[in-house]
Amino acid sequence: MLWYGNFFPDMAAWDRLEESSARGAGGERVGVQFVNSSMRAHMSVFAPRLYKKAHRHGPGVMIVIPSGEGYSVMWPEGGERVVIPWHEASVFVPPNRWFHQHFNVGGEPARYLAFHLPRGLTDRNEQVDRSADQIEYPVEDPWIRRHFEAQLAQRGLTTLMPEAAYQDPDFRWAFADEDDG
Ligand SMILES: [Fe+2]
Repeated sequence: MLWYGNFFPDMAAWDRLEESSARGAGGERVGVQFVNSSMRAHMSVFAPRLYKKAHRHGPGVMIVIPSGEGYSVMWPEGGERVVIPWHEASVFVPPNRWFHQHFNVGGEPARYLAFHLPRGLTDRNEQVDRSADQIEYPVEDPWIRRHFEAQLAQRGLTTLMPEAAYQDPDFRWAFADEDDG
């Protein structure tokens, strides 16, 4: 789904979203395209007490948080992790080829709005093996889950990540509106 326009009044309120299964956590998304411009963006929305899969790509993507409370973890391959707490109006930039992963530890859906490089410049390298650029839940570093559950525990919350997601690499999320046709 692509939202085409010149002015996007409130990304914290936009609810015309479509299911997006590729990155896990039962997420939904919308693409944003500015009229007569090479500017592109997309926004993802995902539910509390869940987290997305880690992924990486090229430079030049800026992330703005329209709403929600959580954190992201970023790291270069083989390097040290950086934890970035975020809330409404936070801004951060995953460096070139650093893995990044988003966690919702709040009580409401979290939104992140990613501004891409202008069309014509690419943040993807098509030659790179896609499987090397996304980390599925069953093979992620156990620290990821431990840290997430510890962060939730500090808030008196528990994870809603299904155990099956950690066991089955082909695990598919049930979407709330799946029966709507
Ligand atoms: Fe990304």
